[in-house]
Amino acid sequence: MTAYGDVAVARARIARLVAEMQPTGKVLEIACGTGLWTAEIAGRADTVTAIDAAPEAIEIARARVTSAKVTFEVADVFSWTTSARFDVVFFSAWLSHVPMSRLEQFWQLLRRLLVGGGRVLFIDEHVDVREKEAYVAGRDEIVERRLRDGETFGIVKNFVDPQRLQNRLRELGWDCEIRRDGGDWICGEARPAT
Ligand SMILES: C[S@@+](CC[C@H](N)C(=O)[O-])C[C@H]1O[C@@H](n2cnc3c(N)ncnc32)[C@H](O)[C@@H]1O
Repeated sequence: MTAYGDVAVARARIARLVAEMQPTGKVLEIACGTGLWTAEIAGRADTVTAIDAAPEAIEIARARVTSAKVTFEVADVFSWTTSARFDVVFFSAWLSHVPMSRLEQFWQLLRRLLVGGGRVLFIDEHVDVREKEAYVAGRDEIVERRLRDGETFGIVKNFVDPQRLQNRLRELGWDCEIRRDGGDWICGEARPAT
């Protein structure tokens, strides 16, 4: 999902999904990357705060999305602090990179970031496409990535099993619905349980 292949095709899919999810009001986008989703979200939201840990990604996103509604910030979500509260927190291709050991901390953070009645919206990859990655032997959630210069490194990748994630989020105090989009993506919406 990191590489979108045909960007025109990806843009059309992103536009459709954003239209379906309706991220309105004050939106926070976590791990915005190069801003492909940010651009679409900005068309529906009142304001978008988009954060990513990589300065290079934010630089590309800033060039791509020039809407005055959007504020970009280089930030590690786990150490980012803000007094702002959001109607929607959105992330694409991010949840699968959150280590299981930090999942609870991450969802606690999301709860603090939402206004009453706020929603978390997310897109990620379905567990059925897990085979596309090479898992490091003996390391459940670490896959190997190879750079063009041949250097390899490991990253966390937890493909989404909808039922498992829904159950886990229920334990953490969230109501969550996850549906499939095509064979490869999932589309989730979560709210603090009442
Ligand atoms: C797979 S990319 C997804 C980018 C974008 N959301 C998309 O769908 O095109 C994951 C992004 O997470 C960012 N990231 C990694 N660790 C992060 C952290 N701790 N806080 C914020 N962003 C982080 C990376 O820089 C990268 O841009």
